[in-house]
Amino acid sequence: MFLIVSLLILPSHVPALDACPKCGSMNVPYPLSIGDNCGNPRYRIYCNNGTLEFLSAQGLYYRILSINPSAHKLVISPPMIVKNTCCSSDLALGGLRLDENLPFNISTRNTVMLFNCSDNILLSPLNCSSTSYCRQYEEVEEGSGCKGTLCCHFLKDTSMTSHMIRVRVGGCTAYTSVVNIKPEDPVDTWNYGIELQWLPPF
Ligand SMILES: *[C@@H]1O[C@H](CO)[C@@H](O)[C@H](O)[C@H]1NC(C)=O
Ligand SMILES: *[C@@H]1O[C@H](CO)[C@@H](O)[C@H](O)[C@H]1NC(C)=O
Ligand SMILES: *[C@@H]1O[C@H](CO)[C@@H](O)[C@H](O)[C@H]1NC(C)=O
Ligand SMILES: *[C@@H]1O[C@H](CO)[C@@H](O)[C@H](O)[C@H]1NC(C)=O
Repeated sequence: MFLIVSLLILPSHVPALDACPKCGSMNVPYPLSIGDNCGNPRYRIYCNNGTLEFLSAQGLYYRILSINPSAHKLVISPPMIVKNTCCSSDLALGGLRLDENLPFNISTRNTVMLFNCSDNILLSPLNCSSTSYCRQYEEVEEGSGCKGTLCCHFLKDTSMTSHMIRVRVGGCTAYTSVVNIKPEDPVDTWNYGIELQWLPPF
């Protein structure tokens, strides 16, 4: 009993709890948490039926593809583009948004591609040229519904909000993201994902 009480009154920044058990085949390194009994509750992710997932501010789950605990980073899967359309599956919710009160943000290594954009995107500094990476993605099965639409790419660096990737009807309706893209990389080696980083616990 005394032990339980002392655990409860420990200041929250002390890593009082251990790493969580695996979820399916994936390790859940500290401070990430999949339940009340392990990890740090501020770093909550979800183990849904053996699949590790990240919950967005709008309540959508994105599959976690990999975790790099020493770099404080994890990569989530971009939403799928609904077959035979050019609409991301999270379009109705405006794309991806992270809860700004949580210690996660979008890292600066993501190249985001936007598809089926309205003309006023051309006023932005995004790369919408015929050599944009987005034109290569149209040749990939999943992007084929976006073929011929106005598309652009940009590096999601520190000059942008680091808590969302926005899509909307009348703006751009689909997106994908590649981590750490290099100009010489062939499209079939792209590392699709949205890399998030977390602020380590104090
Ligand atoms: C959980 O996963 C198993 C095996 O992958 C699958 O057969 C089952 O339908 C899933 N259940 C739910 C609720 O998604
Ligand atoms: C657009 O991106 C491509 C691929 O990175 C690059 O080769 C090209 O120079 C860029 N164009 C502009 C206008 O920035
Ligand atoms: C492109 O976006 C418009 C709305 O902005 C939508 O009506 C249209 O269906 C989209 N195109 C495709 C191929 O999904
Ligand atoms: C995201 O969070 C990290 C710390 O976790 C911080 O160093 C970085 O500046 C943040 N990035 C942006 C673009 O706000």
